[in-house]
Amino acid sequence: MNEPKIIQLPKISDPRGNLSFFENDNQLPFKIRRSYWIYDVPGGENRGGHAYKNTEEFIVALSGSFDVVLDNGTEKKTFALNRSYYGLYVPKLYWREMENFSTNSLAMIVSSTDYNAEDYIRDYNEFLSKVKNEQR
Ligand code: TYD
Repeated sequence: MNEPKIIQLPKISDPRGNLSFFENDNQLPFKIRRSYWIYDVPGGENRGGHAYKNTEEFIVALSGSFDVVLDNGTEKKTFALNRSYYGLYVPKLYWREMENFSTNSLAMIVSSTDYNAEDYIRDYNEFLSKVKNEQR
């Protein structure tokens, strides 16, 4: 199984303003199928609370800050995202919560799959039994 990891992105520092990027077949361990973003989150609000059967994601705090809590069914790790020149790779089958959004934060997420409601696991117990089955 792949492990979650922080991926540093290129940062082109410039007095006119910095620039960072990622592209297919570079930086990320999957090919990008879809992008979405989460914004206008009231300060302190939480999102997420699900896992994906097959989808992998990469999450960047383009603005502000928030925490991503990843749970593999055995242990939980919290990743604080607060810069636009790195992001968090989230493998499939991790329960993920996004917490502590700062006011005006902007989360950009790129995904390895098209949107498919069937790929979501929204029940934590179902997630745990799926993880245990995969480990057999
Ligand atoms: P969801 O992934 O459930 O967000 P969260 O877990 O943070 O609450 O998505 C919220 C709603 O948006 C859900 O009804 C599905 C819809 N949605 C799409 O239609 N396309 C997408 O790419 C995403 C990510 C969500």
